[in-house]
Amino acid sequence: MLLDLSLYQACLGVASASFVYGATRGVYNLYFHPLAKFPGPKWAAVTGWWKTYVEVYKGESIIDKLFELHKIYGPIVRITPNELHFSNPSVYHEIYNQRSRWNKDPNIYQVFGEDISTVSTLDYRDAKRRKELIAPHFSRKSVLQLQYVVQDGLNELCAVIRARCEAGKQTDIWRAFRCVSMDNITSYCFGYCIDAVHATDFKEPATEELHEGLRVFHVFKHFSFLKHIIVVLSRLIFKYKIAELDRPGYGRKNIRQIKGIIENPTILADAPHQLVYHTLLDPNASLKLSRPSLHDEAGMLVVAGVDTVSNSSTVATIWTATQGDPDRLRAELRAVWPRIDAPPSLEVLEDLPYLRAVCKEALRLSHGVYTPMLRIVPPEGATLGGQFVPGGTSVGISNLFVHLNPEIFPEPHKFCPERWLAPGAESLDTWLVAFSRGPRSCLGINLGWCELLMNTANIFRCFTVELGDCWPLFVGGENGPISPYELFHDDCYLPYYHGPDLLFKFTPIDS
Ligand code: HEM
Repeated sequence: MLLDLSLYQACLGVASASFVYGATRGVYNLYFHPLAKFPGPKWAAVTGWWKTYVEVYKGESIIDKLFELHKIYGPIVRITPNELHFSNPSVYHEIYNQRSRWNKDPNIYQVFGEDISTVSTLDYRDAKRRKELIAPHFSRKSVLQLQYVVQDGLNELCAVIRARCEAGKQTDIWRAFRCVSMDNITSYCFGYCIDAVHATDFKEPATEELHEGLRVFHVFKHFSFLKHIIVVLSRLIFKYKIAELDRPGYGRKNIRQIKGIIENPTILADAPHQLVYHTLLDPNASLKLSRPSLHDEAGMLVVAGVDTVSNSSTVATIWTATQGDPDRLRAELRAVWPRIDAPPSLEVLEDLPYLRAVCKEALRLSHGVYTPMLRIVPPEGATLGGQFVPGGTSVGISNLFVHLNPEIFPEPHKFCPERWLAPGAESLDTWLVAFSRGPRSCLGINLGWCELLMNTANIFRCFTVELGDCWPLFVGGENGPISPYELFHDDCYLPYYHGPDLLFKFTPIDS
């Protein structure tokens, strides 16, 4: 009884202390915090739980919310006690530029489960060393040398789509691109192809899991202890056995491949071409990565290179087919690709103005990453959007606030490749930020561009594309036909799509 009472009293004591601490902290955050002068919802200033409530409990896209909040509060909004979001596109280049040495915010970048990879490395200097190590594999020179890997993947994809046409089947274009991107990234980085394009109806478990995995982003972001428990259990207690079982197909293969190369580095000599491990495990490299770090790097390369490429390729295909000028694109392609069985090189495709314009517009409307990519202001503080922001503040501006700004891109939701061809359009390139900018911008930009150009070129040269059973999605409503923003709507770091299969009718072009 005595024990019960003291336990009860202890719990009551802890609860009261937590309440008093929380209340005091809330009052401090609201009135005395260095960010107290910045506008925003009161509850967002008081506690980070407000954002948890919006994203996890209500399941709302924070991007929608941010558009709403900026209308009410102006160009700077305090979105948690320590986080500011900006809406003025010029601030993008103040935050993400080559001169900034800002660290990434752990609240976003330590939630993926692949915490010791390049993407998740928080510190600017550590990330620079890692990027220097891995960058040669993604240089323009490497991509030009290995472009055949991407074309091989596309040859397989086109063969599968042709077979589907013969069988009278429509094709889910988004799943098809995710499968070919998965095959291409595994081939390009690891020298094996998981052959996702041959999965029934392109429903390959690894690509499906990868996309579904995006849904836990907010849960892990707001309740990071859950992720830590899973990772620590899998890594320490079961010495990778659980990780091995849990990871999708490529994960198991990567673990075995890394083990094999570490035990016998000479097997790299038998690789079909240069692999990412030739650079990551170069004995002369100044940085030696641990085995868990190599696993995380491999896993993260797949995460980084599948949905990003397939989202942009899907936007290019769907909106060219439904609202663009497919005949113009095909005519341009035919001129450099007269024989269907002899596709041109990447260098030739890069010189096609309309194809480039289609791909830029697709990048603009698929955005790369949706979530504001949070960076920590250095201790001395910084001036952003004309306002002094104290050191330690987490700041960001979502790519959508640049890409959908009507002053830069009139009718911003409209798919309009022609805007990239108008006189003076070169100046628009500053505002195409799908690969982000600055020292933490995309490492795979050359490969990303290569895949997007080749995906789009192969689909439109080899097939005509028409709306299939997904047509009801594309019927013009009150606000006109559906926009990419409405389709790829949810913010789960990357855009998350959940809706009907995006079934299109393909008809092969034989000559
Ligand atoms: C259309 C295709 C792609 C787009 C739009 C894209 C976009 C982006 C963006 C916006 C970032 C910054 C993320 C952040 O700071 O939160 C990023 C980073 C990164 N991307 Fe890509 N990406 C694409 C393709 C690829 C590919 C094919 C790879 C290669 C596997 C790749 C590897 C990476 C890596 C490793 C980073 C982290 C760089 C760092 O932290 O410093 N990406 N990408």
